[in-house]
Amino acid sequence: MTSQIASARAHTNIALIKYWGKKDQQLMLPMNGSLSLTLDHFYTDTTVEFNSIYTEDTFYLDQKKIETTKITPFLDLVRQMNPQVGFARIYSSNHVPNAAGLASSASAFAALALAASTAAGLNLTRRELSRLARRGSGSATRSIYGGFVEWQPGTSDLDSYAIPIDEKVDWDIEMLAVIIDRQQKKISSRTGMQRVVTTSPYYPAWITSTNQDLSAAIQAVKEHNLQLLGQLAESNALRMHALNLSARPPFSYFEPASLVAMEIIEKLRSEGICCYYTLDAGPNVKVICSKAESPQIIRALSTAFTPEQIVEAFPGPGVKLIEC
Ligand code: DP6
Repeated sequence: MTSQIASARAHTNIALIKYWGKKDQQLMLPMNGSLSLTLDHFYTDTTVEFNSIYTEDTFYLDQKKIETTKITPFLDLVRQMNPQVGFARIYSSNHVPNAAGLASSASAFAALALAASTAAGLNLTRRELSRLARRGSGSATRSIYGGFVEWQPGTSDLDSYAIPIDEKVDWDIEMLAVIIDRQQKKISSRTGMQRVVTTSPYYPAWITSTNQDLSAAIQAVKEHNLQLLGQLAESNALRMHALNLSARPPFSYFEPASLVAMEIIEKLRSEGICCYYTLDAGPNVKVICSKAESPQIIRALSTAFTPEQIVEAFPGPGVKLIEC
């Protein structure tokens, strides 16, 4: 019996300029580039053990055995790189305060990419890890790095990967997550984004405007311009959600409470507080703001949400190996 084992931790990331559509579904190549912030609070720990006695891949999430069709094709990519390794057992745990509904495929596949490739004896560079993580879930491409991260769309498997824009983040920015629903998404991001690509008449405008947003947002990060970054992130998110409303059949991730949170943020802004929101493929609202102003924002959100629904998060690190 030969056993090879490794464990890794990856943090989730929230896109400020969104990835919403693939040009190649098999290689997971995105239609446009995106920009995200990796968060400290939410992460996944994953252990992979390849063992010659195993006869199939088995996946345990938070100690429960999960049937999924996503793990084996992903591990097959690792086995292509090292055909010596056989089947694996994978143990993952999500560390998300209060089961916040923010566990994501981004941290899951970034942690799996590092743990599986290390257990297989491969010593991949971060660029190679980013390309590998991409094959599990697009947003995982960016969770290889900490801080602000750009995913360059590329034209092939070789040149579609993330690069760090500002890994250390030594300026005043935080994110407040307003937890509105802990349930599974109504429509998975994979299905939703493909539907807009094929049916929304606005999709070409999304590409043009997102490319402009991306260059401006990268510049805003470099200049530590929170206000401009927030403005760009909010309008980019609203355009992504507008695409969903313009798809056939239309769909939306907003819940009534999402609109309540958005209105609170807009009102705070009219009072001179620098805060902006973004939403992904679900109803939770994430607020971009400064640490200096977050107490006031939390107070305003507390008029409509419980303390358990408001979670503070700060810039977090990239993927790393941990003790098994
Ligand atoms: C709205 O990465 O979950 O969060 O690549 O199909 O696994 P797949 O989709 P996923 O989509 C993320 C969409 C988003 C925007 C973003 O993270 O850029």
